[in-house]
Amino acid sequence: MHLTKQQLEQFDREGYLFFPGQFSAEETHVLTEAVPELYARREAYNVREKGKDAVRTNFAAHLYSEPFARLARHPRMVKPVEDLLGEALYMHQFKINGKMAFEGDVWQWHQDYGTWLNDDLMPTERAMNVAIFLDDVTEHNGPLMFIPGSHKKGVVEASHDLSTTSYPLWVVDHPLISQLVERAGGKHGGIVSPKGPAGSMILFHSCLVHASGSNLSPFNRVAVYLSLCAVSNHIRRYKRPEYIAHRDFTPIECLPDDCLTRSYPVDLPWKDGMPDSALETSLDEIGVTA
Ligand code: SIN
Ligand code: MN
Repeated sequence: MHLTKQQLEQFDREGYLFFPGQFSAEETHVLTEAVPELYARREAYNVREKGKDAVRTNFAAHLYSEPFARLARHPRMVKPVEDLLGEALYMHQFKINGKMAFEGDVWQWHQDYGTWLNDDLMPTERAMNVAIFLDDVTEHNGPLMFIPGSHKKGVVEASHDLSTTSYPLWVVDHPLISQLVERAGGKHGGIVSPKGPAGSMILFHSCLVHASGSNLSPFNRVAVYLSLCAVSNHIRRYKRPEYIAHRDFTPIECLPDDCLTRSYPVDLPWKDGMPDSALETSLDEIGVTA
């Protein structure tokens, strides 16, 4: 699947594209049914909500779960991002966010590239986020909120929030959020929340300012977030563990379009457990060979 000129222009203007129903119910089910067993694991890669057992984020499932390894190579997800970045891609980050019924906590206002720059020394913003809904997303279960056009501001000022939720994040302060929302149309379109059935997909720019509220509804809002980075733009520091910020810069090779409903062999390097090296971190800048 490739993007049209009109979609490329819309992405440039607004910083995101929404594809309702991009994956069928049958394809989505293959993913959804694998989640409870992954969330039940007592592993470092499952980050739980502050003071609770509910999983906030599961990291790196594409390295140990077959359905998610196939999703990570899906042409309906990878090809549009290749069109936007014009280069081969590697997987920088892979998350299955829970936002579980009654328990899912907020994600503060932030830009993902802010964290990738500050923590991982990713050289430029040439990386893209993809969200794939595994549950229906409505106004009730904590949909994403975007400030359209905010990616045009580049990297904005942010501070490292280590206390609000269980996951550290570089967050944008409220006066700046108010300004950005006003600039985007205030009450008339200054914040948008794409909503739709399970299987819907959003592509969004790594500098697009976004957030989500808590989930007080009885409906889970599980979603996969894949962050794809241009290979030449790979991170230059391993300050965060490898299960959060990946260190394998091999270009993604797509599987056929039916890869969620037919089995194709995939490599699962962490199938028997995460290597100890994935927990090692360093403040050194890594050498780049030409
Ligand atoms: C994120 O920004 O990484 C996650 C937001 C969400 O799951 O609502
Ligand atoms: Mn984010």
